[in-house]
Amino acid sequence: MPFAHITGWGMYVPEPVLTNDDISKLVETSDEWIRERTGIRERHIARETDFPSTMGVEAAMKALKIANLAPTELDLIICTSSSPEYIFPATACIIQDQIGATKAGAFDLQAACTGFVYALNMGAQAIRSGSMKNVLVVGTEVLSRFVNWKDRNTCILFGDGAGAFVLQASDQPGGVMSAVMHSDGSGADSLSVPAGGAHCPATEATIREGKHFIQMDGKEVFRFATRVMGKAVTEALEKINLTTGDAQWIVPHQANYRIIETAARHLKMPLDKFVINVERYGNTSTASIPIATIEAVNKAQIKPKDKVVFVAFGGGLTWGAMVVEWTGPLPAKKHVRVEPYRLLARLRSFIRRALRFIEGFLSRKEL
Ligand code: ACO
Repeated sequence: MPFAHITGWGMYVPEPVLTNDDISKLVETSDEWIRERTGIRERHIARETDFPSTMGVEAAMKALKIANLAPTELDLIICTSSSPEYIFPATACIIQDQIGATKAGAFDLQAACTGFVYALNMGAQAIRSGSMKNVLVVGTEVLSRFVNWKDRNTCILFGDGAGAFVLQASDQPGGVMSAVMHSDGSGADSLSVPAGGAHCPATEATIREGKHFIQMDGKEVFRFATRVMGKAVTEALEKINLTTGDAQWIVPHQANYRIIETAARHLKMPLDKFVINVERYGNTSTASIPIATIEAVNKAQIKPKDKVVFVAFGGGLTWGAMVVEWTGPLPAKKHVRVEPYRLLARLRSFIRRALRFIEGFLSRKEL
């Protein structure tokens, strides 16, 4: 059975930064309150020209470059997002087109903030089964467009950004070692975007009532998160007969510093084993785990052979954890220049659209 290694990684955050002081000009709050209750100081906010797909493409290209893998070699793209481009088509398909992954299947996976752990596990299982060799997993968010900037309970929490990992098959042991995935739909109401789906289609009233924005019972989500995080970490480690003592790093979903602190206490682990960057990005949902991991890799905190545990929770309710032995790029046979594929992808996409238009025009004429 092949092993599924994380061989490439990339992140992208839009440049504009919104500080707590900026938010205190929009709603009644303060930098002190936000820092004390959440640990967040600032977050990045997408410009009008940034979309989940464009940010996902930036992250994906960086990940492919590190993995030294051409987009045409990808078998599958899984995109996970709590703020997708559309209900359909899948954001994954737009990314597939823009990076020129001509051979890849592409779909979106929805598990709110737990999405990246779920998607990484599904990608790894596709590799472990032997049916695929190269999988791209992208978590990408423009949550700022789903936040009610008049609601101080939620608008202080979220930020925009994207992260991507490349998973590749190898005979060498390592990579994704175990994972647990859980859900409890009885808590669906505590964190949702209630309107815009089939249950509550968009009407003037739903827009007036702000039902297209994130609604959250903060206290309930806080209690749930602190209850499940520690348990999920232990469960994923126990599946492969490891304990917390065997893990060099825990990379938790970055929602709130106090939630991470409580999880560390439950696990009886020192906080300095946790990768934390919530203060600079806020909660970037599916992108938070890859962004935190990549920063820790770039600072040479996470190193090859380290056992790293990813743990997340989110709407659904969903939660999950994964144990990974960090590796890095597979030995290269030849150097792959990734950037030209993107230019070719644009050209190919344009030609395919033009041909589709001409075909449509001619078939209408025949009728
Ligand atoms: N500024 C100032 N005061 C505020 C603010 C604010 N931004 N927000 C709430 N308050 C007030 C409340 O109105 C309340 O006042 P009251 O006592 O007069 O009614 C008081 O502060 C305390 O409010 P709480 O809601 O009890 O504050 P709490 O300590 O629970 O913190 C928070 C709120 C930060 C939202 C916390 O509950 C939390 O982080 N919950 C988890 C949220 C989360 O992680 N969500 C993402 C999940 S992942 C996904 O899938 C998207």
